[in-house]
Amino acid sequence: MNSLAQDSQKAAARVGLVSDSITIHGGKPLRGRVEVRGAKNLVTKAMVASLLADTPSTLKGVPEISDVAVVSGLLKAHGVAIDSSAPGVLTLDPSNVVGAHFAEIDAHAGSSRIPILFCGPLLHQLGEAFIPDLGGCRIGDRPIDFHLNALRAFGAVVEKSYQGIHLTAPQKLVGADIELPFPSVGATEQVLLTAVRAEGTTELKNAAIEPEIMDLIAILQKMGAIISVEPNRVIVIEGVETLRGYTHTAIFDRNEAASWAAAALATGGDITVGGATQQELMTFLNVYRKVGGEFDVLEDGIRFWHPGGPLKPVMIETDVHPGFMTDWQQPLIVALTQAEGESVVHETVYENRFGFTEALNEMGANIVVHQSGLASITRRVPRRPLEQAAVITGPTPLHGADVRVPDLRGGFSHLIAALAAEGTSTVSNVGIISRGYELFIDKLRQLGADFELPSAVASDTAR
Ligand code: EPZ
Repeated sequence: MNSLAQDSQKAAARVGLVSDSITIHGGKPLRGRVEVRGAKNLVTKAMVASLLADTPSTLKGVPEISDVAVVSGLLKAHGVAIDSSAPGVLTLDPSNVVGAHFAEIDAHAGSSRIPILFCGPLLHQLGEAFIPDLGGCRIGDRPIDFHLNALRAFGAVVEKSYQGIHLTAPQKLVGADIELPFPSVGATEQVLLTAVRAEGTTELKNAAIEPEIMDLIAILQKMGAIISVEPNRVIVIEGVETLRGYTHTAIFDRNEAASWAAAALATGGDITVGGATQQELMTFLNVYRKVGGEFDVLEDGIRFWHPGGPLKPVMIETDVHPGFMTDWQQPLIVALTQAEGESVVHETVYENRFGFTEALNEMGANIVVHQSGLASITRRVPRRPLEQAAVITGPTPLHGADVRVPDLRGGFSHLIAALAAEGTSTVSNVGIISRGYELFIDKLRQLGADFELPSAVASDTAR
């Protein structure tokens, strides 16, 4: 069994998913309402932030996804007591933080990148931290040079070994002036989670300003931190001695919301996404309307539907916030296979994020990937060949096929394609999808999808 299938089975077992594949009878519009809870890309970081406090934190809107289970395992390995007092509510008590053996960290982390964000809090709490070899979706090299350079700037000592990276803080960590070569979400979170308790002031230039970053800043401020967000991607953090626990409801998962919106368009359906708000989806909503999708902003969510008639091709360039998010292109590309004409999607954040299109072409799509991009777009991440472009020519009818999920967002696009296609498809490695899509099988059932769950997940992969 290859490592992706192993990761998928582990992820599936973590959330009690009974099957690692799904058989879909497509061609039926999805109709109905689904609820979206807290963002995977905020909740996992908010859980880590609880390590910085000397009293318990309460986080609400926590989705039942595999990545949350991974972080819970890592926190427990470091002595944090975690209690789920109600559905979607976690209480995290860091009163007895302890070091964990790297083998235990490695076992828990598996294919997640989250351990790197434990560095700052553990260096403050214990003067030591350890990062195993990091995994995450296979959408690019995903180096951590920005993270390590920032930690060194605070005074951490970084030692690489074949087991991973060992960090120590012989002296107290001290505030620093840091300029990121690219507004990396992870590196910005790294600086925030370290600077809040470092001695003195940190000025972070070229910071990421995604809604999840702003929500993390709100949490840290509730804990007692002093953080000011200034114009032009500058964030200034004045370190404090101690922080207290927070109580916070996580921002909704805009990636999941955009994915269900794309599913409504590709299947000719009508889906209301409860919990979604307009502010965080502005750029997506503009593109959605340009393609020909309709939406209605409601009190408690957003309704997305296909108004009938032909869809229109678009030009999209992924970018950092407030641009079009790289995590939105995979689900939306399925709908673009049904647009009348040629769409072009330029991926500028990751260097290998069109792998999922192979399976869509097997299902009848007409997508050509240009490894070197099509236009003279300025490189985004320095030193990295990142311009890739996909040209999607439509409309071409989709038909059923057996496909294997390659990564989280690519996996959801495969689900959408199978639902939109005429005939039957089997999508395997669906455990990967449970890393970031809460209860997606139940939601497909709610939306009237026609499917079966063939095979049971081997129980011994449970962790
Ligand atoms: C976060 O990843 C999200 N993951 C990603 O979502 C999202 O695509 C990404 O931000 C961009 O918005 C989580 O929050 C867990 P980056 P992250 O650091 O922090 C390069 C999903 O599907 N880089 O902003 O890893 C990097 O290789 C996931 O939910 C360096 O070169 O993203 C990439 O090309 C996928 N060196 C670019 O910057 C570094 O040290 C953006 O990465 C760090 C990053």
